[in-house]
Amino acid sequence: MAIPVIDFSNLDGEERAMTMAHIANGCEEWGFFQLVNHGIPEELLDRVKRVCSEWYKSEREEGFKNSTPVKLLNDLVELKTGEKLENVDWEDVITLLDDNEWPSNSSEFKETMKEYRSELKKLAEKVMEVMDENLGLQKGYIKKAFNPNEENKAFFGTKVSHYPPCPQPELVNGLRAHTDAGGVILLLQDEKVKGLQILKDGQWIDVEPLPNSIVINTGDQIEVLSNGRYKSVWHRVLATPDGNRRSIASFYNPSLKATIAPAPELKEPVTKEVDEAYPKFVFGDYMSVYAKQKFLPKEPRFQAVGAM
Ligand code: OGA
Ligand code: NI
Repeated sequence: MAIPVIDFSNLDGEERAMTMAHIANGCEEWGFFQLVNHGIPEELLDRVKRVCSEWYKSEREEGFKNSTPVKLLNDLVELKTGEKLENVDWEDVITLLDDNEWPSNSSEFKETMKEYRSELKKLAEKVMEVMDENLGLQKGYIKKAFNPNEENKAFFGTKVSHYPPCPQPELVNGLRAHTDAGGVILLLQDEKVKGLQILKDGQWIDVEPLPNSIVINTGDQIEVLSNGRYKSVWHRVLATPDGNRRSIASFYNPSLKATIAPAPELKEPVTKEVDEAYPKFVFGDYMSVYAKQKFLPKEPRFQAVGAM
């Protein structure tokens, strides 16, 4: 069993209808799919991978040895309780936004990541248009919902993660199971070291590395907007004993000021139970709840933010 692999270039040709249907299936049945021929030049992807790895090696690798997860794991191994660490992730992370301080002084890092982010943002918007069409919404509906006005634009971030080799991978997660808070997530994962898994029908299945593909998944806000047609799916990253897994996740999220609610067009034929599952709320409020409950089920988050 594997998540769907979709040739995005077929959207422009004779196979458009079939490709749209494939993506609809990916969104409805999986919540995750891999795009190939997505239009981002391989040369750029190769540079992105290289500058991120070089930056990690020179700026972070040494520091990880003294990090909290390493200390906690050492303590645990000494105690020999056999318990698993449940409150940390075996992960090194930095988040790039348009207007935060970037971690590297290398102009190559900055230029490459800027170029990559701008390409990925355009790809996210294309994917959102496909979702609009598949959901029977007006073209641009999701983008508009996430960008309510000139002052309040969508929040586009890029999380550069490394999952260093872990001597005791059964005792800690690379990244604990969660669903993503935001809109559309676009992941460039390591081409060799695997670790990402999604929960499908009660089973954890691997998201197999496929070099230079972009893995797409939908977050909690797409679930709300689609009134549950597109579920935000549980996923996690396993720690691995060998290999340093690099993954670069970009997220296209609503503005913190955006009001999110099920699209009125999608509210009709569903049962009352589903109808009450998704409230209307301001995304910034959702993020306050999420910050405390990221690794817990999402339903209580929807309830909590609905009551705010
Ligand atoms: C995340 C995430 C997966 C990965 O950052 O939310 O799920 O492969 N990352 O790093
Ligand atoms: Ni995630």
